[in-house]
Amino acid sequence: MPGPQSLARASRLARVESRNVTCLAPDAPIFWEHATASNVFDVDGNRYVDLGAGFGVLGVGHAHPRVVEAVARQSASLVHAMGDVYPAAIKVDLLEALAERFPGGGPARAVLGSSGSDAVEAAIETAVLATGRPGVVAFEGAYHGLSIGALDATWRPLFRRPFAARLAERTSFAVWPDAGDVVRAASECRGPVGAVLVEPIQGRGGERIPPEGFLRALRGLCDREGWLLIADEVYTGFGRTGRLFACEHEAVVPDLLCVGKALGGGFPISACIGRAEVMDAWPVSEGEALRTQTFLGHPPACAAALATLAVLDEERLVERAREKGALALARLRSGLSGRKGIVEVRGKGLLIGIELDSPKRTNAAWQRALRRGVITLPSGDLGNVLAITPPLSIDTDILALALDIVMDSIG
Ligand SMILES: Cc1ncc(COP(=O)(O)O)c(C=O)c1O
Repeated sequence: MPGPQSLARASRLARVESRNVTCLAPDAPIFWEHATASNVFDVDGNRYVDLGAGFGVLGVGHAHPRVVEAVARQSASLVHAMGDVYPAAIKVDLLEALAERFPGGGPARAVLGSSGSDAVEAAIETAVLATGRPGVVAFEGAYHGLSIGALDATWRPLFRRPFAARLAERTSFAVWPDAGDVVRAASECRGPVGAVLVEPIQGRGGERIPPEGFLRALRGLCDREGWLLIADEVYTGFGRTGRLFACEHEAVVPDLLCVGKALGGGFPISACIGRAEVMDAWPVSEGEALRTQTFLGHPPACAAALATLAVLDEERLVERAREKGALALARLRSGLSGRKGIVEVRGKGLLIGIELDSPKRTNAAWQRALRRGVITLPSGDLGNVLAITPPLSIDTDILALALDIVMDSIG
C-alpha cells in the first residue's frame, strides 16, 4: 500500500492539481473507490476500517441507504433551484428541522451554506450586524476554516502567514481553555469585541477537551459583557460527542451555532443557526441577499441532511456514540497505559485523541495502521495527536478490532 492503481492516480494527479492540495510525498496516498458503512475500498481493492469518517462527516456511515435514496429521489425531481430567489420547497423542511433542534428551543432562524467556513463567516457577520462591533475573541489552537473571514479566526500560523496581508486581524486569541484570559484577549483586540467564537471541543486542534464549566463560564462572561457566544460545532455537532451538540453537555445555549460536516451525511451543506432576535439583525431582503451563494439550499443536499437527521434519531446514533465512545476510551486507556510515547488518551463520545510525544511517532503509527487496514488521521497544531472519529454507526466489534490495530501500530 499504496498499490499500483493508487500510484498511477498519484502521478496523474501531480500533473493537474495545484501542488499544495494533495500530499503526494514521501508516500502517495491511497485513492478511495467506494465505501459503505464503516468500510472504505481503495482502487487496488484493499479494504479499510474507517476510523476517520471522512473528517468526521460520515456520522451515519458511508453511503447510508436512507441518505442515498433521499438524494436520488430529490435529484430525479429537482436537482437545483434558485436558493434565495425561487427556493426549493425542501429548503423550508430543512430549516424547520434545524430550528427545532437549536439548543434551548425558542424561535430560531438559520442561513444555509455549503461548507463549515461558510457557517463561520455567516456567524461572524451576524455578530457584526447584531452588535455593531467587529472584534472577535477566539482561542489558541482554534480551527474555524480557511476562507478569508474564517481564517482570521483560525489560529495556526501555517495557515495564516501566507495570507496575512489579506486578513482583517480583528480576532484576538485567548489561551485555551482559559475563560479568564478572554477578558485580556478582548482588551487587546483591534476593534471593539462583539463575539466570542469557540469550539466546545477543539477538533483539528488535537481533540482538546476543556474542563467542565468552561463553556458555562464563557456564557456568563458573554452575558456580562454584552458579547455574543458563537459555538462552532462544525466538528462536534450531530452526535459526535455523545450529545446532539457538544454545548448541551453543559446545558449552554449559544447565541449562534455553526454546523456543517455531519449534517449532510456526506453531502456538502452547512448552517449558521441563531436565536431569532440575534438573526433578525440581518435586514429584510429587498431583492439582494447579503449572504447567499449559487448553491444555497441545494435540494439534494437538503434531502441528504433531512435523511441524516432522521437516521440519527431512528438509529439512536447520539446515544450509541456516547456508549461506544466510553467503551473505546476505556479500551484505549487500558491498552496504552504505561506504553512508551503516550502523553494522553482523551475523548468525549466518538471524538477521541491519542496524544503522542512526537509528530514522528504519530505519523509512523498513522502509516502503520493504514498498512494494516485502519484509517486514522493525525491532528493538533504539531500533528502529534492521532484522531479517532469513526462513523457513529460503527459495529462495536469492528471498532474494538480496529482500535487494537491502532494500539499495535504505536511504536
Ligand atoms: C470546528 C470547525 N470549524 C470550521 C471548519 C471548516 O469547515 P470546512 O472545511 O467545511 O470549511 C472545520 C473543519 O474542519 C472545523 O473543524
